[in-house]
Amino acid sequence: MKTIQAQDKEIFDLIKKEEKRQVQTIDLIASENYPSRAVRAALTSLFVAKYSEGRPYKRYYGGMENVDVLETLVEERAKKAFGLGEDWAVNVQPYSGSPANYAVYRGLLDRGDTILSLDLSHGGHLTHGSPVSLSGIDFHIVHYMVDQRTQRLDYGAIGELAIEARPKLIIAGYSAYSRIIDFEAFGKIAQKVGAYLMCDIAHIAGLIVGKAHPSPFPHADVVTTTTHKTLRGPRGAMIICREGLRDKIFPKVFPGLQGGPHNHTIAALGVALKEAVTPAFRRYASQVVKNAQALAKHLQAHDFEIVSGGTDNHVMLVDLRNKEIRGKQAQELLESAGIVTNRNTIPFDPNTPFNPSGVRFGTPAVTTRGMKEREMKQIASWISEVISTPESASRVKKEVASFCKQFPIP
Ligand SMILES: Cc1ncc(COP(=O)(O)O)c(C=O)c1O
Repeated sequence: MKTIQAQDKEIFDLIKKEEKRQVQTIDLIASENYPSRAVRAALTSLFVAKYSEGRPYKRYYGGMENVDVLETLVEERAKKAFGLGEDWAVNVQPYSGSPANYAVYRGLLDRGDTILSLDLSHGGHLTHGSPVSLSGIDFHIVHYMVDQRTQRLDYGAIGELAIEARPKLIIAGYSAYSRIIDFEAFGKIAQKVGAYLMCDIAHIAGLIVGKAHPSPFPHADVVTTTTHKTLRGPRGAMIICREGLRDKIFPKVFPGLQGGPHNHTIAALGVALKEAVTPAFRRYASQVVKNAQALAKHLQAHDFEIVSGGTDNHVMLVDLRNKEIRGKQAQELLESAGIVTNRNTIPFDPNTPFNPSGVRFGTPAVTTRGMKEREMKQIASWISEVISTPESASRVKKEVASFCKQFPIP
């Protein structure tokens, strides 16, 4: 830091301002988290300077004696974290979740083939076939939705749609779905229609490693994940597929989409994966869920509607229609009170994604800061107060900043 301060005051000042913003606010964005200091230290290592195009021990550059050992070690740690044997192949090179997903599609499908996935406005991700994503441009997309009454996945309906649509790939795993995903049911549907099953566990990877959500691996052909959400690693991604699919998928990462792997990120992922197999991480994963359930319960006590009636994981969607406020305004108001969230569509939303009817709350980051159920009650009370009495925002902001001092970022 001292070096940056001496050489580049402009960037140094921005880093310090961002640190202050993060320290003084409550981060309820479900896809964000704070990696440990050890993970962040690995990100600044000299691995950043090394090119290593290719796969371990099959590279195009010299100077590989440490990078090859590193990448192989991190692949092994990923297998250990998810309890996988020799029949799985791991690729830790994808720069992020979006290119990881696209590499899988281009590896397993021909352009125009059918993908069956959850609609974006029901909790799916852009890269699961949204018309503005290359996934939606290059492939024929059929979407399933959550059930209108229960706001949960209806596996019977998804099975029927799969028989009708005959997809070559089915995607399970989402950005805004608060219930346990029945990967076994998806496996059966995929088998019945002869489709590949891809599980995108970007959001819940840490819960799976920490045994707070069932694993997709017994049922999936390929699993993709980001590494920076509940897993608490660096920004990055992994593709883990059945050995037999390795030669189809991995060449789409390199040379198909990418050049040199980001070795500093891979080193940091290795550190995160070692942390993730500890009893402390298992306690963390369980606390993330307990906190989400507590936050949902206390919000309900303040008359907030939680989509599907609650949460089984780290995330919840709040339907704001009974509060006479839309998602964009709620997000902005909460931010002015030091509570950072994101607006979100709710299933069957009558409003637009730019100004939808809901907000999404998640507990991975606040749990990393050491907050527990008691603090969730306090946060729910602030949310309620600010939404019902916007004038309270500046006072709440001060209270939030003082509260945050008790919960330092690691
Ligand atoms: C389910 C899911 N898949 C993929 C991604 C894409 O990850 P990235 O933003 O790293 O490209 C996200 C990101 O939020 C996600 O929620």
